[in-house]
Amino acid sequence: MAEKEVLGVLCSGRGTNLQSIMAAVASGQIRAEIGVVLTDKPDAMALRRAEEAGIARLCVDRRAYDTRQAFEERLVAELRAHGVTLVVLAGFMRILSPYFVHAFPGRILNIHPSLLPSFGGAHAHRDVLAYGAKVSGCTVHFVDEGMDSGPIILQEAVPVLDGDDEERLAARVLAREHVGYPRAIELLLEGRLRVEGRRVVIAAGQKE
Ligand code: GRF
Repeated sequence: MAEKEVLGVLCSGRGTNLQSIMAAVASGQIRAEIGVVLTDKPDAMALRRAEEAGIARLCVDRRAYDTRQAFEERLVAELRAHGVTLVVLAGFMRILSPYFVHAFPGRILNIHPSLLPSFGGAHAHRDVLAYGAKVSGCTVHFVDEGMDSGPIILQEAVPVLDGDDEERLAARVLAREHVGYPRAIELLLEGRLRVEGRRVVIAAGQKE
């Protein structure tokens, strides 16, 4: 039996994905504990969610650091201090440097609100609507040194409907994020993911 897995969740704002991950930990779907929630913004609602759940939390305010390197060194130090074995980016609105990525090799996940590689970047829903795509969704992927570019673990699709605006589309995608992210973490922690180049092969589970 592997040692206990410890999640470190990084957020910048609202924290609904954090909430879904906390629920999955509480229900036993994710067999790990959340060691710490880190934010780069002092007013992130994610901090309050963590507080309410009795989880260690901390704001590492980017503005307090002269360089990205110094900021990331602090993040890594906090994650290590809390014994984190898997870093979960959940609405963390910063691009992480190779230094950070190499600190947790193969152990950083991100969720993006589009079907990558389409519509990467910070305005996925707006871009989907502007392009006229008929399908969107979310992608959970490993983080590598690029932006939104690591191997894909899973994707969930939703229709883009006539009359959608950003808010309506975002809400439809978010509902799938809240299912997909805990599922991807569960698969990883069960040791069922094997990365072969760009492809992530998912081994069958015991119940399947
Ligand atoms: C989500 O749409 C996620 O895909 C993106 O940022 C948003 C975060 O939402 N990376 P929340 O903070 O989890 O509510």
